[in-house]
Amino acid sequence: MRNVNIKDILFTEEEIQKKVDLIGEQIKRDFGDEDVVLIGILRGAFIFTADLAKRLGNNVMIDFMEASSYGNSTVSSGNVRILKDIETDVNGKHVILIEDIIDTGNTLEFLRKLFEKRDVKSVSIAAFLSKPARRKKDVKIDYMGYEIPDKFVIGYGMDYAEKFRNLPYIATAEFIDE
Ligand code: IMP
Ligand code: MG
Repeated sequence: MRNVNIKDILFTEEEIQKKVDLIGEQIKRDFGDEDVVLIGILRGAFIFTADLAKRLGNNVMIDFMEASSYGNSTVSSGNVRILKDIETDVNGKHVILIEDIIDTGNTLEFLRKLFEKRDVKSVSIAAFLSKPARRKKDVKIDYMGYEIPDKFVIGYGMDYAEKFRNLPYIATAEFIDE
């Protein structure tokens, strides 16, 4: 395990909240009063999911799912496993899968396919961040915060070794070898 410092702030708390306002408006415009199930992908999306949910109306249900890809802590592999599934009945409903960040796209590609097999009305993807340079699967992101360069980031739900998720801003991580 390497030590990590907070390096540069990429997005301040204020910038993030304004961006979530915009994404919330887009979702309201697209779905109106129809039932929508927000599915936050644990653990990274817990803050974005909550922030987004607060912008939406009474037509919204919230659930969480946990997926894991084999491999070490900063690189995902193509083998995705479901560690926790949703409890909500999504039959005939619009589903929005919510991610903190899309990196290779392996996780979202797998989950989108999984939900397309379930009897949902539609599947969309909301990702606060995207690292297009690292993409292995061509995932369509319906609602996106920002595209970022290929740097490891922490905060706003995103961790290094389970720490820094609670930062209200997003920063780059600086790895310090001892
Ligand atoms: P993917 O399957 O490669 O797209 O993996 C996406 C997941 O990897 C995200 O949900 C994050 O949990 C994790 N991840 C990818 N990049 C970062 C990063 O820069 N910081 C923290 N977590 C990351
Ligand atoms: Mg994640």
